[in-house]
Order: sequence, then structure tokens, then C-alpha cells
Amino acid sequence: MKDINDWIRDFKAGRISRREFAERAATGSLGLLATASILSAKAHAQSPGEGIRQQHHHHHHDGRPRRNPARTWNQTNVNPWEEWLKQENLPVHKDYYISDLRKAEVKPWKRLGPGVQGAYIDLVGGEGVNVGYLCEVAPGAKTEPQRYLFEEVLYVLNGEGESLIWNPGSRTKQSVRWKAGSVLAPPLNVWRQHLNRGKTPARFLVMTNAPVVIDLFHNLEFVFNNDYAFRDRYDGEAEFFGGGADKVHHKDTTAEESEQARGVDTWDSGFVPDARELALRESKERGAGNYRIELQLADNTMQAHISEFETGTYKKAHRHGPGSHVVMLNGRGYTLMWKGSMKYSDAPAATQKRIDWVEGSLFVPPDGWFHQHFNTGPDPARYIAPTWGGDGKWFMRALGGGGRTHRLGKTSTRKGGNLIEYEDEDPAIREMFVAELKRNGVEVRMPKKK
Ligand SMILES: [Fe+2]
Repeated sequence: MKDINDWIRDFKAGRISRREFAERAATGSLGLLATASILSAKAHAQSPGEGIRQQHHHHHHDGRPRRNPARTWNQTNVNPWEEWLKQENLPVHKDYYISDLRKAEVKPWKRLGPGVQGAYIDLVGGEGVNVGYLCEVAPGAKTEPQRYLFEEVLYVLNGEGESLIWNPGSRTKQSVRWKAGSVLAPPLNVWRQHLNRGKTPARFLVMTNAPVVIDLFHNLEFVFNNDYAFRDRYDGEAEFFGGGADKVHHKDTTAEESEQARGVDTWDSGFVPDARELALRESKERGAGNYRIELQLADNTMQAHISEFETGTYKKAHRHGPGSHVVMLNGRGYTLMWKGSMKYSDAPAATQKRIDWVEGSLFVPPDGWFHQHFNTGPDPARYIAPTWGGDGKWFMRALGGGGRTHRLGKTSTRKGGNLIEYEDEDPAIREMFVAELKRNGVEVRMPKKK
């Protein structure tokens, strides 16, 4: 009779299927981790990667949990996401904001290979749903191939390069060329490898929903070495990472989505060639001189939008659920964030923040905090805001209110929503803004209050 070692040999030689092997392993004496390890090693060998040596090296640093504690009924209060952070051994940027993503500290990232540096961004307002990381690839260097069960939106801060993307089990790699300003969303669980093709360091910010996924499954083998290909999202389509005008879709909005907007444009692709140049649509519901486009990236649940507002203007204050990370693409100004009152000046000092921003700044309003953006520079100011579960194609209900709170964030507080009309705002808001503009020699372009 065959024993488990015969079954392992048969599986490695391709004589029996994955399913059959898994069943034999389960009824035999092979432990769960050993089974998973053999299954994923076989998947690595099948993937058209950089050769067995590298794949093997990558595997050791990537998916395999370091500890395998016996299951216990004890309350441990272990947070799987924070355990993962410790294991990564990189700087972790906390607080409410980062003044310049291009200058934030990064350190060598062992898991991703020589010439690659990184840092995690785990800000207060991420509330354990969204985090970011910085990745910097030296000229001539490349990241080890990786795949995982959390979603990503990548924004290129500096440099130029190329990403190779392929589904588990697929031999066809798709290549996407990018440069500063590009947005790339590698689809869920694809293999991805980033290569610097320029002469200077290539640095990008990646926003992910990794904490939710790692906390839920608390099994790194499952999250980082999973063979499932999400072909409903991505199946190697030639135009998946296209950047043409055909990627824009217009939708008329309902009163619930927004009482003041007459429709919304959505960019539906895995790629935006240059977020700083992308054409936007006028969008009055959030304030004067305001333009935006929604981004439906790689069929993700994570949502993003790009917003721009003119010199001499500021947006209406609003609030919604957590995780909306605002990345300034250009311009100069400040943002107020507060909680505990409709009026900024009445909010308790501990929940009253002012963030001065320039190109490369990042901040995220915590769950349910009002926030309001002010342009004090001579040019339009534009940002991209990837967020946890928005109100786009995949409307989410859970965790911090999800999509529903984003819709209420576009509806006036007069009608039970979470958007403060200019007429209803704290008078100190406009006084502060007018004084700032005077200091900068910039003309006020706000509409007169009724
Ligand atoms: Fe917001």
C-alpha cells in the first residue's frame, strides 16, 4: 500500500491532481502546514518566474509563518497584522499624516530582494482597514515576484519602470510601463514584479486593505501562497491596463448618491498613465471650482477618486467612514480635520488637527471626523484618495459604514447627511482662509454666502 511519501512523489511528478493530493494528505498523517507548503512549492515551480532558485528564496521569506503555536483557548490579544509588521522589520510611519512621501524614511526590504527598500504607513485614520507602504527600487534592481489576497493601488512618486503581472498558473506575463504620476492596480492575487527601468530610484506608494485580510485569516500561508486565480476580475485581457479615453464611463447619479451632482465619470482600468493629467468632470456637490473622477481599478472593492479644486477656493467640509487616504499630487494648501462638533473651533483640542500640505503629502481623516480642504496656492490643487470600501461598483456595507457613509458625505447636514454647506459652516473657517490667502497674495474666489 502507498504511504504519504509515495503520494508526495506522485504529486510532485504530476501523476495526481492537487485535489487528490490534498485529500490523501488530509486522510494520511501529513500536517496542514506541510501540506500547504508542498502545494505552494509546486505552484512556485509551475509559475513562469525567474527560475527555481529565486522562487525558492522568495518562498522562504514570504509566506511561511515563523511560529506555529499549538492552538490554545487562551486569550492572546495578538494582532496578526502587527505581528506581520514586526516580521517585515521596516520603519512604520504612524501619526495623522506624512509631510512628504518622497522624503519619508525607507530601509532595505529583505523579503523583496537586493536594491529594494521600504516602509509601512499605518496612520491613525486608517483605523485598521487601510494601510500603505512605500517601495523604492534602485536603478537596475527589481522586486521578487509576490502575490497575496489583499488589494492594491500603486501610485508612482518618482522614477520610471515596468511591472510584470500574471495569474497563478498562467505562463503569459503582461507588462505595464509606468512613470511618476502613474497609477497601477495589480489585480487580486496576481503575481507581480516591479522593475526599475530608469537611471534614478523609482519610488511608489501602495495603498492596501492588507490589515483586514491578514487579521481575518491570520494565516500567512493562505494569504501569501494561494493558488486561486480570480479570473472574474482579471484573465489576461490585452486591454486590462489600457489608458485610452474608452476607459471613461458616465453614469447619472440618484438623489441618494448625490443631490447636487448630475452624474459621475468613472475610469475603469487597471492603470492610469498620469493621474496628474487625467481629465476630470465638474462636480459642484463638494464645493466651488471642484472637479473629480472616480477610479474603478482592477475590479477592486477598494475605491479611489481624483479631485481638483481651483486656486482661491476651498471644499465643503464632510465626514464619512475610515481609510480615505488623501495623496496630494500637486498644489499647496491645508486641511482641517475635527470631531465632536459641527464647528471646527468648538472641537476639543485633541480632535482638532490642521495639516499643511504640498505635493507628496499624505493624510487620512479618522472615522467620522469632519475634514475640509483649502487651496492657498496660485494653482489648482489635485489629490488622489484611495479608500477602504467606497460607493463605486462594489458598494460595501461593513466596517465604518462603508459606501453608505460616503454617500452621506455628499448630502447636506440639513437633509440628514454629513456635508456642511458653506452657509452652515463655522465663520472662523472663512476668516482663517481669507487671512491665509492675503498672506500668500492669492485672490479669494469663493462664492458669496447667501
Ligand atoms: Fe472625505
